[in-house]
Amino acid sequence: MKEKVYKVYNDQVQAELYSAYLYLAMSFDMESKNYKGMANWLEKQYNEEREHAFKLIKFMQECGEKPVLQQIDMPAADFGTPAELFAKVLEHEKHVTALINNMYEVALEEKDYAAQIHLQWFISEQVEEEANASEILDKLQMVGDSVQGILMVDAQLGDRK
Ligand code: FEO
Repeated sequence: MKEKVYKVYNDQVQAELYSAYLYLAMSFDMESKNYKGMANWLEKQYNEEREHAFKLIKFMQECGEKPVLQQIDMPAADFGTPAELFAKVLEHEKHVTALINNMYEVALEEKDYAAQIHLQWFISEQVEEEANASEILDKLQMVGDSVQGILMVDAQLGDRK
């Protein structure tokens, strides 16, 4: 791996682990507010983010590199209402998409063909990640302050396996 490619991969491991940590904090917040379905969805998302980090780690190791863990920031504890929280999820996923796109640009510049192919999975995954967050946010904005509506969305998110 060239130095620049190594750096973006290593930094992205930290970014994915931070995403996991953020969604875990969000899950705790929703659980404490009795939105158990949303807490479930966010906990599943926490697991997914750890898988993303491991996909990067495994690829680095297959390339003969050693990932080095970095400091992970402390997330907030209170994310407001469900709609406010999912607006933050969407915003965060957009930020992650920008990071992945930047990684791809570095892989292009460095002519790292293996990394380019590896990153294609992440590029597609980010389309899905943004679509999922956006759909939930849309639903929450549709129901507005209706407790019944929010609980209906909560029940749907409780189904995520
Ligand atoms: Fe790892 Fe939600 O992107």
